[in-house]
Amino acid sequence: MLAAQTRAEIEHARGRYPHPRSAILPSLWAVQHELGWLPPEAMAEVAELLGLAPSEVQAVATFYSMYFKRPPGRHHILVCVNAACALRGADETAAHIEQRLGCPSGTTTADGMFTWESTIECLGGCGGAPMMQVDHHFEEHLTPQRIDTILARVAAQPAAHRDGPPSRVPNPPAANTPPPPTAEGPPSAGAAG
Ligand code: FES
Repeated sequence: MLAAQTRAEIEHARGRYPHPRSAILPSLWAVQHELGWLPPEAMAEVAELLGLAPSEVQAVATFYSMYFKRPPGRHHILVCVNAACALRGADETAAHIEQRLGCPSGTTTADGMFTWESTIECLGGCGGAPMMQVDHHFEEHLTPQRIDTILARVAAQPAAHRDGPPSRVPNPPAANTPPPPTAEGPPSAGAAG
C-alpha cells in the first residue's frame, strides 16, 4: 500500500544502521508523512521491509504519541501544559482551544479539520510559553487572540501530509535504542467519531 518513494525511504533508512530496528523511527515517520497516520497494514509493510516482527514496529509506534494510530483531522494541535507553560496560562490556552473548536482534548472537530490534545510532555519551547505545536510548527506566546488568528490561518491550509502541498519539513525523532513496548490506551472518541 505504500508509495514507491516511501518504500525507498525505508530501504534507505535500513541501510543507515547496523540493525534494522534502528530504522523503525524514520520509517514510521516516512509512512506518516505519506498517509497522515499509521494504518496497521502500513506498519506490517514496514516490518516486512525491515525484516522485523510486526510486534516490534507496533511497539515503537504505540510508545510515541507523535505517531498517529488512527486518522487525525487535517491539522494536528498539541498544547503543552507542562510546568513552564502552566505557569504562563496553559490551562487557559487549552480551555480556549476547546471552546473554539467545540471538542475536548484528544478528539477531532466534527468537520474533520482539527485534532487537538494537551500533553504534559514539555515540547521544548518553554521560552515561548504558553505554546502549542500545530502540524509540527511551534506557535508561542499564545493569547486568545493569537490562537484565533492561528486557527483561522491553519484552517485555510492543506493537510500537512503528502496528499497536500508540503507545509512542513519532516523532522524525524532521533533514532536510537527502541523503547520498551508499552500499552497505549485507546484514544478517546472525537466529535467526529
Ligand atoms: S513546559 Fe511547555 S514547552 Fe516546556
